[in-house]
Amino acid sequence: STLFDKLGGSAGVELAVDKFYDRVLSDDRIKHFFDGVDMKRQRAHQRAFLTYAFGGASHYNGRHLREAHQQLVKERGLSREHFNAVAEDLIATLQEMGVSQDLIDEVAAVVAAPQNQQDVLNQ
Ligand code: HEM
Repeated sequence: STLFDKLGGSAGVELAVDKFYDRVLSDDRIKHFFDGVDMKRQRAHQRAFLTYAFGGASHYNGRHLREAHQQLVKERGLSREHFNAVAEDLIATLQEMGVSQDLIDEVAAVVAAPQNQQDVLNQ
């Protein structure tokens, strides 16, 4: 079974989305990237992000991530430190939810995979 299943499927993801969303938006290191991003779109982003991270979806290929973040890299300086901050917030969210360290390690390995970093950071 996927991490998505182990974390409780869509109900687990919904809970994680709310908590991750709150954490990112109150994180001074990265919250400015979300200025001017509409609420509905942002929630969809967080849901997509976590469903992807948990293996519940595979339709966000490298090219999609590259395009989705291209402007943020070119015009707003999105860099490795911001990528790491997002990963850190995701891990903290899962810890707060009481997810086991084994599962958290699996999630971290998926999210921080070199291919993802290269795509998101347009490297
Ligand atoms: C958009 C995933 C890292 C900020 C998106 C979208 C996805 C996504 C699926 C929606 C794309 C679309 O529908 O067009 C991911 C994944 C990441 C990642 C899988 C890491 C593995 C980051 C980081 C930041 C960030 C590090 C900033 C700190 C944003 C913003 C948008 C966005 C602001 C909305 C852009 C817009 O509306 O123009 N991301 N993301 N993302 N992402 Fe990420």
